[in-house]
Amino acid sequence: MDIGADDFAELSPLLEELAGFSESGGPGVTRLLYTKAWLDAQMFLAERMRSCGLEVRFDRVGNLYGRLAGSMPGASVVLTGSHIDTVRAGGRFDGAYGIAAGLLAVARLKEVYGTPVRPLEVVSFCEEEGSRFPLAYWGSGNVSGMYAERDGSGIFDHEGISLEEAMREAGFGLSSQPDSRRSDIGAFVELHIEQGVVLERMGRRIGLVESIVGQRRYSLTLSGKPNHAGTTPMKMRRDALAGAAEIMLELEERAWHAGDPLVATVGRIEATPNTPNVIAGEVRFTLDIRHDDELELERFSQGVLDASRFIAESRQLTLDIRSWLQTAPVQMDSQLVKVLQGVSAGMGITSRRMASGAGHDAQVLAGICPSAMLFVQSRDGISHSPEEYTMPEHLQEGAAVLANCLRQLAYG
Ligand code: GLV
Ligand code: MN
Ligand code: MN
Ligand code: MN
Repeated sequence: MDIGADDFAELSPLLEELAGFSESGGPGVTRLLYTKAWLDAQMFLAERMRSCGLEVRFDRVGNLYGRLAGSMPGASVVLTGSHIDTVRAGGRFDGAYGIAAGLLAVARLKEVYGTPVRPLEVVSFCEEEGSRFPLAYWGSGNVSGMYAERDGSGIFDHEGISLEEAMREAGFGLSSQPDSRRSDIGAFVELHIEQGVVLERMGRRIGLVESIVGQRRYSLTLSGKPNHAGTTPMKMRRDALAGAAEIMLELEERAWHAGDPLVATVGRIEATPNTPNVIAGEVRFTLDIRHDDELELERFSQGVLDASRFIAESRQLTLDIRSWLQTAPVQMDSQLVKVLQGVSAGMGITSRRMASGAGHDAQVLAGICPSAMLFVQSRDGISHSPEEYTMPEHLQEGAAVLANCLRQLAYG
């Protein structure tokens, strides 16, 4: 008997409950690393895992695991899950879906098939988005060894709170807590919403991710001279905001010229003192650049940084560039993709192989174990937005495909 979509009627109510753990005020869901909303969500999930009969533990950086022990001594773990953090004013599915569906899938497998051969675990990674601190994949990165816990030192959020301090405040980072690094994972499967339009346009239900784009993220700080907006002639200005605007347009033009699949974004900007009648003395903003080809990505990024330096110099501004994320494009495990494809086909569900333009924990786990991803449709391809939406029947179908994949991997 295969597990089917009907087994996951609890999924939408669970996602609804999770969406309630958010900084108040909306719009959408805001659950940044180590904040109260984040901690409450992790504690809620821990309780839910316990009530499903899973062994629950947190690691040192706050990744949460629910484990169903297997019968084979020393067998490697079959892991599923995703990240609990969100972008600011994000949706209720990005990350949360993979955790909620993974938890219900493991619980259902336990009910129907009992003890697996290999241990089955669901993880709620503490951080993936890079929305609070200038670093991303803090959860899976500590598991894979991409980060060590001490890499949190010297990293500050926009209120000047250090990552270390925030971690301690949330109750993590203690030497008595289990080390986050793992070497016992045999396979990782992440279920996620597509966050794009491919599946919807093609009329397919499941996306089988073959590769994930490479990324670069930078924080740029331009410094000029704050001065009176009324008394400073144009030719005497060192306007950091005008300089930032020129860099942004240069970035956009270069990205248009490079064409698909290169994408480049300035998503965050802060001007100081940010006052109508004062020329901005300092502007901080971010660059997010992505491509599926590492060489092209590097060439484009260096070109943009050189052009930014040139623009700054020509305006007598100083420019500080901080690089805080560099990931190469990653291939998913081809054997695992075949398993996912076979399971979808066996359930009579249409699928399509595709690339992911969004970053995911699976690309980090791919460094230590065979990893793969399943996507379900996102309405109108909208994500990182309160408008993010996937129909309950699609969510449930994805969970059923995941459960049957986990069954093959852990019970076979
Ligand atoms: C994370 O969601 C990213 O791809 O930006
Ligand atoms: Mn995201
Ligand atoms: Mn995500
Ligand atoms: Mn992501």
